[in-house]
Amino acid sequence: MATVYNWQIGRDMSYWYPQARPSKQFAMVFDTNKCIACQTCTMACKNAWTSGRGQEYMFWNNVETKPYGGYPQAWDSKLLEVLGPQQWNGTTYRGKTIFEAAPAGERSVGIQPDDPDYTSPNIGEDEVFGQVEKGLKVIMPHTPWMFYLPRICNHCTYPSCLASCPRGSVYKRPEDGIVLIDQGRCRGYRECVRGCPYKKSFFRSTSGISEKCIGCYPLVERGLQTFCVQNCIGKIRMMGFLHTPEASVPDNPLDFLVHEKHLALPLYPQFGLEANIYYVPPIHVPLPYLEQIFGPRAQEAVANYKAAWSDPEVVGLIELFGSTDRIMNSFKLIGDEAVGYNASGAEVVRVPLKEPVHLRAAYDAALQVERRSIT
Ligand code: SF4
Ligand code: SF4
Ligand code: SF4
Ligand code: F3S
Repeated sequence: MATVYNWQIGRDMSYWYPQARPSKQFAMVFDTNKCIACQTCTMACKNAWTSGRGQEYMFWNNVETKPYGGYPQAWDSKLLEVLGPQQWNGTTYRGKTIFEAAPAGERSVGIQPDDPDYTSPNIGEDEVFGQVEKGLKVIMPHTPWMFYLPRICNHCTYPSCLASCPRGSVYKRPEDGIVLIDQGRCRGYRECVRGCPYKKSFFRSTSGISEKCIGCYPLVERGLQTFCVQNCIGKIRMMGFLHTPEASVPDNPLDFLVHEKHLALPLYPQFGLEANIYYVPPIHVPLPYLEQIFGPRAQEAVANYKAAWSDPEVVGLIELFGSTDRIMNSFKLIGDEAVGYNASGAEVVRVPLKEPVHLRAAYDAALQVERRSIT
């Protein structure tokens, strides 16, 4: 095993290959506070990439309701049970990652889901944690809670699917960090399915090989954000490229949210993969749960998000979510507008910090009609 540095757990760790970071790293930020679980992202991905027989249960993108939802069922709680309680010393992880806790002869701690685990993609949808008594009125703070967690492959810096494949069929592209399965090389050993803690590699029974999110690389190569991002109704997603904390570029939208403003966190950093999909945590969820799922920086991220509305730069960037199909490599505020630029420095989008409000008279004299709001 090689020794590599994982900034998300604040220490060196063991991995099966030496550290080889791509020249830029595909990444996304999801704002969980805005997701409405409409599943448009799920359908956008499905229609684009996984239609056809044998792919009915393949959801490269899925949106599950936490704490009870999960696809495949209980993907995270089963692994957490095996790994045991996590131990952090500040922001340094003192427990074992899935690579360090691997049993002899195996590359990581992995769980192979059973077929029935894939049969109910939306199990637990909208189920809240907490007792809801008959006649209960909404009082604040509202104690029953749940939230929507959109999930895709994390295009991990240290992918366990890649480490687990005995045929070397999984590779990480040096130019953008997207993790792919070589469809010509794969022989269906399914170690990638077992090894991925996020369960984002899927075995296709009709072809006998595995498939996974391809990061919409044909779009990314043309400077476009992915289909699941472009189609997000709630405008909760932004795709771009992320640097390490030491190399953070403050006007890069992803670096700004993750490294500069500490608003977005990886999912289960304790697994040790340096996952590259980041989440703005839901601000209404109890802290112990947030810390289990997003790590020890959860409290800081929630506080920063609550305070963000007085920071015009953060407001501007949040307004840029879902505003363009182009990848934004940088952004800045100009007056009361937020402007996004592509890799060549050309402007690709401009949005107002505040949506304009138009007030119209109740009586339209020109048309001689009364206007009534029926909403
Ligand atoms: Fe591989 Fe899973 Fe990481 Fe995706 S999330 S790169 S499938 S280990
Ligand atoms: Fe699907 Fe592309 Fe989104 Fe991956 S990045 S989940 S392939 S739409
Ligand atoms: Fe959430 Fe956006 Fe997907 Fe709708 S399209 S479920 S808002 S991530
Ligand atoms: Fe390897 Fe997974 Fe195929 S383990 S051979 S990529 S099914």
